[in-house]
Formats: sequence, C-alpha cells, structure tokens
Amino acid sequence: MPAPGAAGDTFRQGLRERHRGSHHTLPGSDVHMESFPLPRPRERAMPPAVHIPRRRVRLRGDPEEEEGARIGEPEKATRSDILTSFTKLRDETGNPHSDKFLRDICVNFILAGRDTSSVALAWFFWLLSQHQEVEDRILKELREIVAEREGEGEGELVFKPEEVKKMEYLHAALREALRLYPSVPLDHKEVVEDDVFPDGTVVKKGAKVLYALYAMGRLESIWGKDCRDYKPERWFRNGRLESESAYKFPAFNGGPRLCLGRDFAYYQMKFVAASILHRYRVEVVADHPVEPKIALTLYMKHGLLVTLRRRDEA
Ligand code: HEM
Repeated sequence: MPAPGAAGDTFRQGLRERHRGSHHTLPGSDVHMESFPLPRPRERAMPPAVHIPRRRVRLRGDPEEEEGARIGEPEKATRSDILTSFTKLRDETGNPHSDKFLRDICVNFILAGRDTSSVALAWFFWLLSQHQEVEDRILKELREIVAEREGEGEGELVFKPEEVKKMEYLHAALREALRLYPSVPLDHKEVVEDDVFPDGTVVKKGAKVLYALYAMGRLESIWGKDCRDYKPERWFRNGRLESESAYKFPAFNGGPRLCLGRDFAYYQMKFVAASILHRYRVEVVADHPVEPKIALTLYMKHGLLVTLRRRDEA
C-alpha cells in the first residue's frame, strides 16, 4: 500500500496541499464593486517577490533547432516551444527580441501558468473526494473514451489530444471547481478614463476597481439557490457543455486581457486528472485540515495530503 504522498512531479506541490471541512463559505450579501484610489506602483516600496538574475542568463532558442534550420534538416527545425517561437519573431523595428523581453515572456508564462493550474487541480481532487457521484461520472466518461480505441490495448495508456477533447464532463467538473475555488480569488483593474458603471457608480481615472471572484462564484444572485453545491451538471444545457460569459465566470479574466493560457490550462488539467483518475483512487488523508490561504493565488493553507491506490489492485 503506498504511503500517503503526492502524485506526479509537475503537480506535486498542488497535490500535496490539503483541506479541512467541506462547507463553502457564502458571502453574507451581494458584493458591490467599489472603486477607490490606491497608491500608484512607484509610491509603494515593495521588495520584488521573485529575483530573476538579469545578467547571467542568455536566452537562446533550441540550438539543435537552429542547427537543423542551418543545415537543412527539417526534423530538427520543427521545435515549437515558447522560447524557440519567440526567438523567431521580430519586434516592431524588425529586430530580434532582446534577451530581457524573452526572459520576461518565459517568466510570465511560468508564473501565470504553473501555480494557477496546480492549485486548481488540488481543489478539484479535494472536491472529488467529497463527491463520489462526480468521480463515478468522470470514470464512466473515461471508460467510454478508452473503449473506443480500436484494436489498441490500453498498454501504457497515454490520452490523445482528440480523446482529451471528448472529456466534456471532466471539463465541466474542472470548471465547477474553478467557480468555487478560483485560482485567482481577487483581481483588480485600473480605470484609464473617467467612466460610469451600468449601475450608476462613477469611476474616476486612476482609481482601482477590485472584484472578488471567490465571492462571485458563491453568490445566489448569480448562480441560483444551489450556488454552494459542487455540481458540474450546471454547465450543461440539453446534454451539451455550454460556455458561460467570462463576465459571469471570470476565473480566466474577460475581454482583451483574457488568460492567454486558458485552453492550454484546460487541456493540461484534463490530461493530468484523467491520467491519474484512470489509474488511481485519490484518497484524501482523513482529518487533514483543508482551508484556503489568503494570497494572490488560492493555495491550500496546509496542502493536500492524499493516498494513491491503484485501481487494478484490490
Ligand atoms: C487554471 C489555470 C489558470 C487560471 C485560473 C488563469 C487565470 C488567469 C487570469 C485571471 C488572468 C488575468 C490576470 C489579470 O491581468 O487580471 C490570466 C492572465 C494570463 N494567463 Fe492565465 N490562468 C491559468 C493558466 C494559464 C496558463 C497555463 C498559462 C500559460 C501557459 C497562462 C498564461 C496567462 C497569460 C500570459 C496571461 C496574461 C494575459 C494578458 O494580460 O494579456 N495562464 N490568467
């Protein structure tokens, strides 16, 4: 029997996180968007949270790829990682992007995409541990997808992109987890021009507008009486997975600054969740405290401690 522990390298941190209690906090009243001026960034003397060495790193695309292009070996010239793609682009003056630009792009993708997806998975696995019926439906969906493989044994089963696309119920289950536990629980925007909200609230240039995604996901006025329930079915209409307005469900932001990694994040989370659930029962260790940590990202304060049991072992 495996010892309680985390699953997988990529999502180890998220899966190590744990949670106490099963109730969802409901905001006492509607959340009002309030605008008020906050100190401008230069007025705040905050130390940088992450130190990235500026001088020593020299970013280059994949050398094999560059060599492949040079000597005409296309199989080596087909790499499409983010860094390699950006090294091929030119800036508005027609020059290659600077090392600083390339570094910032890579760090941005790492910071924006890693913890957001891993905490979402941690909350998802915890919610599943409280909702056996949801896990059963996900497993049924996975079994049906695997059964469609023609003449292929399961072997070392690796889900294919077209199979991941078919995982609609799993998609809804992840979206529902993000509704109750949005990876970014609180966000803000700065007003660039004086404006008036539809409800008549006046917002002045330079003010910051904060909105609480965590509270929005639990408001009866938005989601109805069952707003506190974990119910992936709410995302289906007439048996089809429906999209929802990004302004009602802003877990990935909305408008022109919509999360660039949204589709990739869903793909990645579905692939990881399906690969784990197909093979293992994920049992949250009894009596471990589970509660959110108030931070820019909605971490679990104490992590999620789980025991993995192979499904093919009794
Ligand atoms: C569950 C996973 C994720 C969630 C919940 C999430 C959420 C968000 C949110 C709320 C924003 C807007 C922040 C703001 O400016 O107010 C954002 C922006 C962004 N995200 Fe994600 N994200 C996720 C995964 C990813 C992944 C995997 C990537 C990259 C591979 C990524 C790349 C980005 C980028 C580049 C932006 C900036 C977009 C812009 O300002 O134009 N995100 N994300």
